[in-house]
Amino acid sequence: MKKTETIVQKLITVIDNKDILEAACGGAEFSNAASAYARSVSCIDLDDSRLHLADPNTVQFEIMDAAQMRYADETFDTVFLYNAFAHVQSQWEAIETECRRVLKPDGSIYIIATWKVDIALMRDLFGDRAEWNGAFFIVRIDKNR
Ligand SMILES: C[S@@+](CC[C@H](N)C(=O)[O-])C[C@H]1O[C@@H](n2cnc3c(N)ncnc32)[C@H](O)[C@@H]1O
Repeated sequence: MKKTETIVQKLITVIDNKDILEAACGGAEFSNAASAYARSVSCIDLDDSRLHLADPNTVQFEIMDAAQMRYADETFDTVFLYNAFAHVQSQWEAIETECRRVLKPDGSIYIIATWKVDIALMRDLFGDRAEWNGAFFIVRIDKNR
């Protein structure tokens, strides 16, 4: 099983039948894996150079800055960042604000990492709020907290 398929299974309760967004999606491997279960999958990146959508009808990709999203308020149940934290860390304050804005009231942001560079930065910023779940280092940020 691919890593992205494994993490989708671990977080299935916040993916299954939900409207989800992957920010800074790169190749969109996480979005592809989640699309087997989610009600809708949107994913964004600053460019599409690595994009490889398994099915463009199932995953809606747009070129968009995660710090300035064009989505309406309260669009998504869950927002994911997968192995992307090091790339967005310098803009994290603005990106977190935007992720909270596009989340529905009970929604959550999940920052997921398997790479050392992301893990180290997440430890620095989030401390004990970051936890291991198998091979995945995860921070959950609830909108209403
Ligand atoms: C490590 S890469 C790809 C991560 C991807 N989730 C994966 O698993 O392949 C990180 C990505 O973050 C994107 N990125 C950086 N800043 C961004 C921003 N402000 N808004 C959207 N995407 C951004 C980069 O373009 C890059 O594709």
